[in-house]
Amino acid sequence: MGLPYSVFVRPMLSFVDSETAHSISMRALSGFGQSRVGQRILSTVYNSPELPIHVFGRLFHHPLGLAAGFDKGAEALSAWPSLGFSWIEYGGVTRFPQEGNPKPRMFRSNKHGALVNRMGFNNPGATEVRDRLIERRASGKWPKTPVAANIGRSKKTPNESAASDYSQTLEMLWNHADMFVLNISSPNTPGLRDLADADYLSSIVTECRLMAERKGGGKPLLVKVSPDASNEEILSSAHSALRSGADGLVAINTSMHRPVPRNAASRGVFAEAGGISGRPLQNRSKEVISLLYSEVGDSIPIVGVGGIESPDTAWEAITSGASLIQLYSALVFRGPSVVSTIVRGLKKKVKQHGFVGLEEAVGYEMP
Ligand SMILES: Cc1cc2nc3c(=O)[nH]c(=O)nc-3n(C[C@H](O)[C@H](O)[C@H](O)COP(=O)(O)O)c2cc1C
Repeated sequence: MGLPYSVFVRPMLSFVDSETAHSISMRALSGFGQSRVGQRILSTVYNSPELPIHVFGRLFHHPLGLAAGFDKGAEALSAWPSLGFSWIEYGGVTRFPQEGNPKPRMFRSNKHGALVNRMGFNNPGATEVRDRLIERRASGKWPKTPVAANIGRSKKTPNESAASDYSQTLEMLWNHADMFVLNISSPNTPGLRDLADADYLSSIVTECRLMAERKGGGKPLLVKVSPDASNEEILSSAHSALRSGADGLVAINTSMHRPVPRNAASRGVFAEAGGISGRPLQNRSKEVISLLYSEVGDSIPIVGVGGIESPDTAWEAITSGASLIQLYSALVFRGPSVVSTIVRGLKKKVKQHGFVGLEEAVGYEMP
């Protein structure tokens, strides 16, 4: 199916702008992908092998999940496992509904395998997402895989009130996810990245932890970090998050830095405001995963994301210290078959190294 996607579907989608292409894919997945027949067909084509790993006290059938931002409103939850993903992160969801930035706000560079986006947390808001998910569960369309919710700060909420904005969204979504990612690292909400500052972050995680305990606990809280902070700042955020009760870290979000463009089209794309994702993130992602693994890897699991597009890049993220991995951009450039290609490749690498399971590969490359 990799071939039909690259020969037919991707060229067709490349005639429309990136956000329209995304909307077309989402419509197909939230319609056809939710039906039993649709799911059966997709699972037959995109089936991923088993490469189990236990993280956060749960079994993941393999490590590769869908990254935040693709299914912002949790509209196609049950389609993702049929494309081979072992877990899903929906969102970013904010406490209040948001339109996001004016369009166009998503751009692609085929040459670099990169996207630039300044979506700005467009999403229906926590109340509507919660209601949608209550309905989904009632109609028996809840996926069997672990589900994470990505929570962002509402644009209209000042940083001084961020902790209660995050914790209210957490409260509303509590019954509708197995784990939660506190996103303090998107570049497209003014001031959001200031929340990585140890004091802000500690109040956000503390308030969310209290809310989690009020709700009965038992669901991990993760913090997603920015690639653009210095290593010292990232470590300071990680320690602050850990001290305040975070259970895991996600590395990394999109970046404001740009590589040197290799053609005129990419020059235009890179000149757009917003965060870059995809292949240009590979090195920094690996670097941040290693940094976090060497500093806090003994205490908490790390989720690796950024430029994962092949078995080699996935293996590098895992051997740098990621227990779970995610992708977004590679789905746009390579199509859904990238998921099973990566998992199959990882399985082969585990065998080649003589490892009993994937757990042994986590952090294997670390000195
Ligand atoms: C269009 C778009 C929207 C995104 N929205 C979110 C978001 O709402 N919350 C978040 O934490 N990350 C968001 N991300 C970042 C991704 O989850 C991921 O961290 C980043 O794209 C790097 O992974 P990739 O190189 O596989 O794309 C978004 C990325 C893109 C391209």
